[in-house]
Formats: sequence, structure tokens, C-alpha cells
Amino acid sequence: MSTQVVLIPGDGIGPEVTSSAVALAEAAGANIEWIRCHAGESALESHDDVLPEETIDQIRSTRIALKGPCTTPLGGGYASVNVQLRKSLNLYAAVRPVRSLPGIHTRYQDVDMVVIRENTEGLYSGIENVITDGVITSLKVATETACTRIAEFAFEYARARGRRKITSLHKANIMKLSDGLFIRCAKEVAAGYTDIEYEELIIDAACMKLVQDPSKFDMVLCENLYGDVVSDLCAGFVGGLGVVPGANIGRDQAVFEAVHGSAPDIAGSNKANPLAVIMSLVMLLNHLASTRSDQAAAAAADRIKAAYNKTLESGSLTMDLGGRLDTTEFTDVLIGNL
Ligand code: NAI
Repeated sequence: MSTQVVLIPGDGIGPEVTSSAVALAEAAGANIEWIRCHAGESALESHDDVLPEETIDQIRSTRIALKGPCTTPLGGGYASVNVQLRKSLNLYAAVRPVRSLPGIHTRYQDVDMVVIRENTEGLYSGIENVITDGVITSLKVATETACTRIAEFAFEYARARGRRKITSLHKANIMKLSDGLFIRCAKEVAAGYTDIEYEELIIDAACMKLVQDPSKFDMVLCENLYGDVVSDLCAGFVGGLGVVPGANIGRDQAVFEAVHGSAPDIAGSNKANPLAVIMSLVMLLNHLASTRSDQAAAAAADRIKAAYNKTLESGSLTMDLGGRLDTTEFTDVLIGNL
């Protein structure tokens, strides 16, 4: 029997890169029935709503989704679809593995780290006020429940995957209460996981240490904004946003999506690298394998991973990585290498 998975093509390059992932899933023998749903700018046309209730309901029902990026207007307009989705389904943990890949040469080697980002609060709570003309406040929210929950997630993840160290990034010297709570909760959770090394770094110094030698980091644990920024920084170590996948995990549902956005500068030109979404698909298939004992998904994940490693090793690359292939050509090579 096939597994139902919600597919949100999203905006900009979203439809191009998600259709590449769907083609890979099919060619690799993953037994998936895609339920196509709308979200983002494209949903405004069909539903007059950037995040239609039926999209949320479908994810509640299938409990799993592959999502393309959604555009968010700057400085006004509707609230981020991504933030709304993560909050409405309580997808509290963003997991972003960042790894050096064969055939992609950057100034860094042996990068193998995971960014864990708290996804539901911090400065993304969207509580902003005009105090008076020209004076704005933006509220950073930290709750003991969410800080403890994300730390527990990180330590459980580390233990399950044999990771050795977690570094909490913070600015508790300035945001003494909110970031202070974040690291206090992390430290309390760490005390129960003596098999995993734990350390804390102030975010500015951590960024310097990251760019000096990212291979010294294993897992970084961040509140929402720091996690957002650090994810893109770390993507730069391994070739850029075209090669970093992600998952948003909640208690009941999981939504898999690349770290990158809708890339309006290259949208519709068949230039986007679909690998980050394909890698997110591999994470989705592995999730199905571990949570639902889906053997077809496990086998398809292994085949896709082997195919992209082989493709990159052979020097077949998209333009963002210095290659010549467009989205369609790269997808065809991947399928040929399955
Ligand atoms: P972006 O990630 O879309 O693009 C940044 C740069 O990376 C651009 O030059 C783009 O061409 C390049 N890039 C991104 N993905 C690529 C890929 N797969 N292949 C080749 N090049 C790629 O970030 P930006 O420009 O800051 O945001 C654009 C829109 O995306 C905004 O509306 C933003 O709010 C939204 N966004 C959505 C996200 C999501 O849906 N999860 C995440 C991040 C941003």
C-alpha cells in the first residue's frame, strides 16, 4: 500500500525543485501517493489565503509533508507562511544537517554538523508594536516549556545518531532573561545526558569560530533567529543553499523542506539546484522508515543518496556549484544514476 504524503510546491523555484524530487521518488521506487496542496503566494490565487485550512488539515491527516519554499513580503503584507505553518502544527524543532559532499570543493573540508533551531518562539512570535511615531518594539518570547523541549529534542537526536557534542549559541550577556532561560534549560537537560559533551558559546564568537573551522562543531542548538541565520552561514561551508536540507519536526507531524527560500532571482529559469529538496526527500523517506517501518522508503532513500553522491563525484553539477547543468538535466543525470 502506498503512503500518502502532502506535497506543497510553494513559490518561486519551489515548483521546479519539488517536481524534480517527486520524479526522483518515483524513479527510486518510493511508494508514495502525493496529495498536492497549496500554500504561499500561489494559494492566494486559488484560495484567497496564503495558508488554506485544508492544507493544514491534510498535513494533520497524513502527518507528513514535503514543502517547497514560500515567499514572504518584506516590511508588510501577510505574515510568513512558514512561521504560520510551523506554529499551527507545533513543528517545534528544525533539523538542518550540513555536510561536506563529494565533488563539491569549498575552502572547508570534513564539515559534518547539524543545526537544531527552535521553531516556534523567540523574535519570530510576530509581536511588534508602534509605541509612537518612529518608535517600534519587537518582542522576543522565551518559555521554559519550549526551551526545555528543544534541548531535549537535541540531546535525544544526538544520542540516537551517535553525535558527540552539542554547542548552545546565545547572547545571554545582553538578553539576560530570554537567552538566559534558553541556556539554563539546555544546561539542565544536558545534566541528564552525561554521554554527550555540552558547551555554550556567545553567538558572535561562535560565528567567528564557525568560519575558522566548522569541523570542530558537531551539533549547534539555537533559538529561532540565531538558528535561521546560522543555518545559511553553515550552508556556505559546503557549497551553498542548494545543498542543505531540512526537517521541521513536531510531536505528531513532520514537514520536510530545504533551508533555502523561493529564490525569485532565478525562479522560472530552470537554473535552481533541486538537491536540497531531494536531500529533504531523503530525510522524509528515512523518517517514514524509522517511524512507520516503511522498507520501500528506506530502500528508496539509500538509492537516491547513492545516486546523488555518484553524480556529484562525477562532476555533474548545477550552475550554483560551478557546473553547467540546469534543473532538468541534473534531475535526468540523477535518475540515470539510481
Ligand atoms: P533564498 O534562499 O531564496 O535565496 C538566496 C540566494 O541563494 C539567491 O541568490 C538564490 O538564487 C540562491 N539560491 C537559493 N536556493 C537556491 C537553489 N536551490 N539553487 C540555486 N540557487 C539558490 O533567500 P532570499 O532571497 O533571502 O528569500 C527569497 C524569498 O524566500 C523571501 O520571500 C523569503 O521570505 C523566502 N524564504 C522562504 C523560506 C521557506 O519557505 N522555508 C526560507 C527562506 C526564505
